[in-house]
Amino acid sequence: MAHFYVVKCIVMLFFVYYVCAQQCDHTVEAARFDCHPEPFVSQHKCLTRKCCWKPVSSLITPANKNRSTNSFGENVPWCYYPRDFPMYQIKTNESTAFGQRLTIVKQQSTYMPNEILHLTVDLLYETSQRFRLRIYDSTNKRFEVPLPVPVVETKANATDYEVSFSQAPFAILVKRKSTGLTLFDSSVSPLIYADQFIKFSSRLSSSFLYGFGEHQQPLLINVTNEWKKLTFWTRDFPPTQQVNLYGVHPFHINVEMKSNSPTNFHGHFFLNSNAMDIDLQPLPAITYTTIGGIIDLYLFTGATAQDVIQQYWDVIGKPAMPPYWSLGFHLCRYGYNNIDNLRAVIQRMHDSEFPYDVQWTDIDAMLSHLDFTYDQTQFTGLPDLVRSFHSEGKHYVNIIDPGISKTQPSGTYPPYDDGLKRAIFMTKFNSTEPITGKVWPGMNRRWARLVDSHHYFLHLGLTVFPDFTNASTIDWWTNITGTFHDTIPFDGIWIDMNEPSNFVDGSHDGCTDNSLDKPPFIPHVLGDSLSAKTLCPSAQHALSFHYNLHNMYGYFEAKATNLALKTIRRKRPFVLSRSSFPGSGQYTAHWTGDNRATHEDMYFSIPAILSFNMFGIPNVGADICGFELETTEELCTRWMQLGAFYPFMRNHNDLGHRDQDPAVFSWTAQQIMKQALLMRYSLAPFWYTLHHQAAMTSRTLVQPLHFEFPNEDITLGIDRQFLIGRAILVSPNLVSKATTVHAYIPQDVWYQFPSGIKMKVVGTFTDLDAPLDKINVHVRGGFIIPMQIPGANLMTGRGNPFTLLVAQSASGNATGNLYWDDGDSIDSIETKAYNYLEFSLVSGVLTINAIVGSYKDSPMRLGIVQVLGFSKAVTSVTVNGNDHRDFFYNIPDQVCSSS
Ligand code: NOJ
Repeated sequence: MAHFYVVKCIVMLFFVYYVCAQQCDHTVEAARFDCHPEPFVSQHKCLTRKCCWKPVSSLITPANKNRSTNSFGENVPWCYYPRDFPMYQIKTNESTAFGQRLTIVKQQSTYMPNEILHLTVDLLYETSQRFRLRIYDSTNKRFEVPLPVPVVETKANATDYEVSFSQAPFAILVKRKSTGLTLFDSSVSPLIYADQFIKFSSRLSSSFLYGFGEHQQPLLINVTNEWKKLTFWTRDFPPTQQVNLYGVHPFHINVEMKSNSPTNFHGHFFLNSNAMDIDLQPLPAITYTTIGGIIDLYLFTGATAQDVIQQYWDVIGKPAMPPYWSLGFHLCRYGYNNIDNLRAVIQRMHDSEFPYDVQWTDIDAMLSHLDFTYDQTQFTGLPDLVRSFHSEGKHYVNIIDPGISKTQPSGTYPPYDDGLKRAIFMTKFNSTEPITGKVWPGMNRRWARLVDSHHYFLHLGLTVFPDFTNASTIDWWTNITGTFHDTIPFDGIWIDMNEPSNFVDGSHDGCTDNSLDKPPFIPHVLGDSLSAKTLCPSAQHALSFHYNLHNMYGYFEAKATNLALKTIRRKRPFVLSRSSFPGSGQYTAHWTGDNRATHEDMYFSIPAILSFNMFGIPNVGADICGFELETTEELCTRWMQLGAFYPFMRNHNDLGHRDQDPAVFSWTAQQIMKQALLMRYSLAPFWYTLHHQAAMTSRTLVQPLHFEFPNEDITLGIDRQFLIGRAILVSPNLVSKATTVHAYIPQDVWYQFPSGIKMKVVGTFTDLDAPLDKINVHVRGGFIIPMQIPGANLMTGRGNPFTLLVAQSASGNATGNLYWDDGDSIDSIETKAYNYLEFSLVSGVLTINAIVGSYKDSPMRLGIVQVLGFSKAVTSVTVNGNDHRDFFYNIPDQVCSSS
């Protein structure tokens, strides 16, 4: 009997072992999903979670797992879910007007505190190309992102996608109807839904993705052989790879591959504002891990990349039309230090005859770095200087940081005194007392210099932070901004440090020990703490805790500042914000922050501007010539050439570095930079039309080559070149001392700009000549580019003749358009106070059609028309039926110009 019992036990153990082994027997490492995303995993901790433990390599131990690196081995989980890990099951299922509502339940909690075992799942078939999945607590209301997204109550009739679900375990599957390809499949890993830890995964259609900001990374994210972890928590840190940066954009585009060649594109937008990690693995699969809110995931079915973007912008809001002047060249530096230096720069820019539109000042022009002040001793006469810009058609932008000094004598500093009275500052947890941090205000110049370079801890700079989610804050902000505008008539506002940045972690008095400040799981943020270089997550806004709204601080500040500018100036606002969130593009432009004067950072500016275009903030640029470190004449020349083709063009420099404005360089460098600026200025009407298209029809201003040429596989990862609209290809020289550029010229007709010479070799990589005085720009056949003879600035140039660059396609056709208005009114589009012209070239006849012609304040004159790509010599030209002799045909280049 005893013998039989022992045998039975052995059989049982073997059975348990066999079943466990089977549950953990994932044949490919790529199919493992992390069951212990916190650092310092051990076998014991893993098995306590009832997960599988299998180290990947003996070289790496869990203790030395470096949280912020992403090399292959280090992110393969050693502790992963077994196949039988407890999962949710569908309890009820009903059809609704919007689609379907399910309830799902789980019998037992697993490893995170406060798991929510009863959830509701809404499947919303919002449009034929937009599907939305919402999973939330069936009983208690949870925080949801305060973005005004469309409310859709009825299901779309026909959809591109097909949704199905499995009962037990619960999983959602979305497929593209036309190809049967999987767009979303959550069955790959268990859903964990706890109060402060929500984790779910989906299979990806391919290993190729674009998006996920704000990160310093190449454009194409390729996880064929790699695991990647991206963290989302707004943070003041110079653009560096693999760390969370200034903005948060949990949006991506996934390239769908069919028999190894790309076909369609689709996108995901995770509408969640809490700190999160997104993990990508070579299965390929994606895992979202957030520490709050709900699951609110949009799926956009494309089919082109621009379609995906359009569907995304329908949700987050389209970008605003910028004022025309803001398309010009902007010049800034931290550390003009006094008005004489500033005047000297302006004078030399003028003397060297550089086109330029906007002069900026940084915090050194403030009195002790106090917002809404200027240093009347060092910057005597600044208001008059600004007025003199205006008389020349130029503009001025000043900086405002969110930190408001609280250390000024009572009654002397209205922004603080009034703010306190109106109770508009963020407060400490469970208190009406404002939370105090430390930023620049109150520091004198010498200290500021030290803090800037060494981050010294000082007993100066105590600040409080406006809560822009509070309606009263908007009034207060508009008021103080308006009062300051009465002193200096600025035209735009630069909102910096709005992650929000704080020189002490959390607050002057530290943070609490509660679960907001010390959550059970912290995404892999730089500094390993949510309060690193920002405010305590437990601080309070009118709408919720900072824990939930931190990532949206810049969004709400941009919205308030945009409104304040509209109210004060009654003209189109220009705002530049460092921090951003989905939807920010409706209110602000963006720059990529404190980059360095290196060729590497010059390169990274291209994926950054391309990505921000996808994120709906198309008016974007990087600090030209580099912010940190000393630039060189060569680098700055190359960067001015590249920057002339950024949507937003600003040269900006850090405190303590030598001047890097164009007029400070050698005569030769100046001529090259001027050439680049003249190209930019001549293309301003084209850019303006693209802005109109972005605002109206949701097209990006710049785009990767792959979006336009998806069938040319080779374009998939190209991010050292880019397209402006659909028609202009920019191939900058990004390598020091190089005199050629290895560039891909897509399969189409291309002409060199501005010479008009046709490219002989296309559909391949070519070494283009690129001496220092040349930037390679090509115009695509089939497009008509509206241009204008440049003036000293965009406002004075507005009356100059327009020119048309007509680039014939292989069949001799071309089309284009032009949007034109007064450049500065808030409601030009709504009141139809604009002109909209369409151009077409068919069979040698160029037609200009005025679709809308109601802007009459300043007459538009057509000057030169240049037609590229004739196969035969042009012998005659007629204009409106009349013989026109004033034309010139250039035989070798096959270009005909007529005026
Ligand atoms: C940080 C910003 O990123 C930088 O552009 C600015 O010059 C400094 N703050 C000083 O305001």
